[in-house]
Amino acid sequence: MEKNQMIENALAAFRTLLEEQLARVERMEAQAESEKKAKQCLTIGIIDGDGIGPIIVGQAQRVAEKLLEKEIENGTVKLKRIEGLTIENRLATGKTLPDGVLDAIKECDVLLKGPTTTPKGGNMESANVALRRELDLFANVRPVSLPEKGIDWAFFRENTEGEYVLGSRGVQLGDKMAVDFKVTTTLGTERIARAAFEFARRNGKKNIAIVTKANIMKKTDGNFSAICHEVATDYPELILEDWYVDIMAANLINESMASRFEVFVLPNLYGDILTDEAAQIQGGVGTAGSANTGDRYGMFEAIHGSAPRMVEQGIAEYANPASILRALVMLLDHAGLSDHAKRLTDAIAKTDADASVRVTGDRDGATCKQYTDALLQNLT
Ligand code: IPM
Ligand code: MG
Repeated sequence: MEKNQMIENALAAFRTLLEEQLARVERMEAQAESEKKAKQCLTIGIIDGDGIGPIIVGQAQRVAEKLLEKEIENGTVKLKRIEGLTIENRLATGKTLPDGVLDAIKECDVLLKGPTTTPKGGNMESANVALRRELDLFANVRPVSLPEKGIDWAFFRENTEGEYVLGSRGVQLGDKMAVDFKVTTTLGTERIARAAFEFARRNGKKNIAIVTKANIMKKTDGNFSAICHEVATDYPELILEDWYVDIMAANLINESMASRFEVFVLPNLYGDILTDEAAQIQGGVGTAGSANTGDRYGMFEAIHGSAPRMVEQGIAEYANPASILRALVMLLDHAGLSDHAKRLTDAIAKTDADASVRVTGDRDGATCKQYTDALLQNLT
């Protein structure tokens, strides 16, 4: 293709992206003004996901049914299974969110979601990314705690924009070059900063680490940091520090630094990377839960993937439900059912201490169901 034509095409594509992103900002502005409705019945959507998903979510559902027995009986809580968000169905329909699935999801208030597979290559978008966008789940909250090392971290990862929002919309100029885009909006940054600062205030945390690479990404990350500082003027008790993501990756594994951090606010991609690192420090990515919350909906999921290798090896039933159970604890807390969250946390601790049902992810350990049977016994 001729050079000028290539540039014209890229400019036209870029114009469309800018128009779409400004329209998104306008929707966010409208949304921020619309009031939230109080609900009489909390509907919890249960999504199996793929691979080991149905196994771990199936067991988590048993736990939810037992925990919320009374509420389900008196009609204040409803569990609703959402079918069809499987990789087979997504590939067969060619849709990230097959028809009807999103509507069914929108009838829920909160979701407990198993891992969903994202095929490599092709155009199929990640179901996670699509759901985060469609439900405007702007805050990805990932707590990591390691009491023996004095670590009690809460990551507030911006979940709807940054490097992700146009991740599958980059521009290719012939076979010569490609350009991807990163988007930081003022409203998008304000709301994640506020979510983090409110959390810090409620939980008596003081130290906030704003993690960017603003020395290099001067506009998007520069704005992200500046906006966080502006929002923080409403929270004079908090101490804000700016860190670059590279040195923060090092600090997380530096024992003399790690325990001084409390709350982290980060753009999407840095949050993605550092939370895997942090989960590994806690004991593995299988141990952390992940909350995706917005003003209207909340989605709670295991931080790990669908483990297709375990399915291929025929050991899927040995999958560890730790991460999805932690996600359930976060869901209960988020929905104001903190007493049940506490009951579940205590039962998990008690079951984890029982060597006879230790889950290893392989045949030498307990199955997901055996672990859950014991946990149900330990629920008080
Ligand atoms: C996560 C995952 C997702 C992400 C993938 C599955 C798209 O890694 O939740 O951290 O990159 O956000
Ligand atoms: Mg990730």
